[in-house]
Amino acid sequence: MRTALAILLAGTVLALPAAARADRLPLPADAPASFQAECGGCHLPYPPALLTAPDWQRVMATLDRHYGDNAGLEEKTRREIEAFLVRHAATRGRMSGAGDPPRLTRTEWFQREHRKVPATAWRDAQVKSAANCAACHTRAEQGSYRGREIVLPRSR
Ligand code: HEC
Ligand code: HEC
Repeated sequence: MRTALAILLAGTVLALPAAARADRLPLPADAPASFQAECGGCHLPYPPALLTAPDWQRVMATLDRHYGDNAGLEEKTRREIEAFLVRHAATRGRMSGAGDPPRLTRTEWFQREHRKVPATAWRDAQVKSAANCAACHTRAEQGSYRGREIVLPRSR
């Protein structure tokens, strides 16, 4: 049992290239129900690993002026969601988002991963915003961002 697990783990590590690919971003198992309910209504409940802890704290401190919307919450729920986001936040600097509140679509990592996406794709009427992940990543709701699941709007 233990050996089998060790082999399995070794296999996983070997299968990953040096710069780990991030095509799987599932919702962490300890996500409180409030996260999906309160942060998944207007857009995807974004993967917490795509911003740093200070960024999430900033997002959660400014919910009343949330990118032009009001996403204000009761304090208990706000704290619960913030703790969850911070627990799973990124630690690397390239995951820190520009803007106030910060955007996960404006981290060095996001820009780099999407550098080959043609400018016209971002402007397409079906996409409208880089924050609209599911417009191109057809299985984003399931936390999957694999290459073969991507459909650029023009090719539909
Ligand atoms: C009332 C609707 C609404 C709710 C509820 C809501 N948001 Fe948003 N959120 C928005 C809008 C609108 C945007 C801007 C989208 C765009 O620019 O296309 C946004 C953008 C974001 C972004 C930045 C995306 C980017 O461009 O990088 C983050 C991060 C975010 N929301 C997190 C959250 C979290 C966490 C919660 C729950 C506490 C939440 N949102 C709840 C409406 C909402
Ligand atoms: C306009 C279409 C489009 C939108 C919108 C978009 N992406 Fe992407 N994304 C792509 C394409 C195309 C690639 C592959 C780029 C490449 O291979 O060079 C990609 C790559 C990725 C990858 C890397 C996958 C891997 O194999 O490592 C992740 C993760 C990702 N996107 C997440 C997101 C998230 C999260 C959002 C929303 C906040 C988003 N994307 C919005 C088109 C899009």
